[in-house]
Amino acid sequence: MAKLKIGVIGAGSISEAHFQSYANNKKVEIYAICDLNEERAKEKAEKYGASKVYVDYNELMNDPEIDAVSICTWNTSHAEIAIAALDHGKNVLVEKPLTTSVEKALQVEEAVKRSGKTLQVGFVRRYASNTQIIKQFIDQKELGEIYYAKATCIRRLGNPGGWFSDKERSGGGPLIDLGVHVIDVLWYLMGRPKVKSISGNTYSQLGNRKNIKNLSFYQAADYDPDKNTVEDMANAMIRFEGGASLLVDVSFTLHAKKDEIAVKLYGTKGGAELEPELSIITEKHDTILNITPQVDSLTFDFVQGFQAEIDHFIDTCLGEKETRSPVQDGVEMTKILCGIYESAEKGKEIYFD
Ligand SMILES: NC(=O)c1ccc[n+]([C@@H]2O[C@H](COP(=O)([O-])OP(=O)(O)OC[C@H]3O[C@@H](n4cnc5c(N)ncnc54)[C@H](O)[C@@H]3O)[C@@H](O)[C@H]2O)c1
Repeated sequence: MAKLKIGVIGAGSISEAHFQSYANNKKVEIYAICDLNEERAKEKAEKYGASKVYVDYNELMNDPEIDAVSICTWNTSHAEIAIAALDHGKNVLVEKPLTTSVEKALQVEEAVKRSGKTLQVGFVRRYASNTQIIKQFIDQKELGEIYYAKATCIRRLGNPGGWFSDKERSGGGPLIDLGVHVIDVLWYLMGRPKVKSISGNTYSQLGNRKNIKNLSFYQAADYDPDKNTVEDMANAMIRFEGGASLLVDVSFTLHAKKDEIAVKLYGTKGGAELEPELSIITEKHDTILNITPQVDSLTFDFVQGFQAEIDHFIDTCLGEKETRSPVQDGVEMTKILCGIYESAEKGKEIYFD
């Protein structure tokens, strides 16, 4: 069988996870790489044996050999690149967040409809084995009705700089960068209820704290601490139709004692924790049980999650599966993220019809 030819647009930090996962998938050939930084694209092309290198993504789109693309560029460019790819008949895996405004998200959804191609949003945590374990329990109603969910992703020091902290290119700070993962995975496990109202706050009290010494943190490929126009902390209460609610807090920096990640769900018959470690909480014979599944990793396994996401995308391109993170979910998540920013800006709760 002929291999699917893949183009990767954006050859920075996260592209490495895409390249490695494609390289492990026998159904594909890493064929083209595009980056504004030609040297970076060439390095990856050499490492992964890609035959074409582009600087302008429009030229890559005109290459009829390419069947599917991964978009690993700055957030505000995702929509235009995704639309161009779809309009050129290519399937698309776009990194999270889908985009940075509801208007652009709807334009991408339109492009998916008119092209008949697949678009998968890179909600990688949906593909993690731990998420799928909990999903089976939820689908079998073993947690009952889920009415509360809680997500925390706190970095005490971790503004990645570069485009991440330039709102023009990122669309926002820790909420759109980290919050998107934890909100999405909970919303997915809750059964994707319709959002009813949002009350959010954002804070820019500490800046990026470039003065801090002796503590390392994740940095963008083009790290530059001199520009910082994004929030350093956000929190929100999201209400859904049917009465369930989700509470979230995230930061790039905060005077917290340590970094913290928590992803938890509570139902009428049981609870579940994805982070900090996989756990199921229930009650049997008048006794509360904390159950620890016996699995390879009790926390999110980045390599496994990415491989599963890429393998699923390829099977979707081949028409063998439906994507688990379709464009419609990207649109809903954009509504939630933009709703939190809007509520914070207005200083009041906002409502959805
Ligand atoms: N799924 C995850 O866990 C995860 C983790 C990190 C980043 N991401 C997402 O991946 C994307 C990239 O993040 P990163 O950390 O790799 O950033 P990065 O800065 O390391 O790399 C981005 C690359 O894209 C290139 N680029 C930007 N605009 C371009 C364009 N129009 N055409 C061609 N190349 C362009 C830049 O030159 C750079 O090399 C972001 O959307 C981010 O939210 C996802």
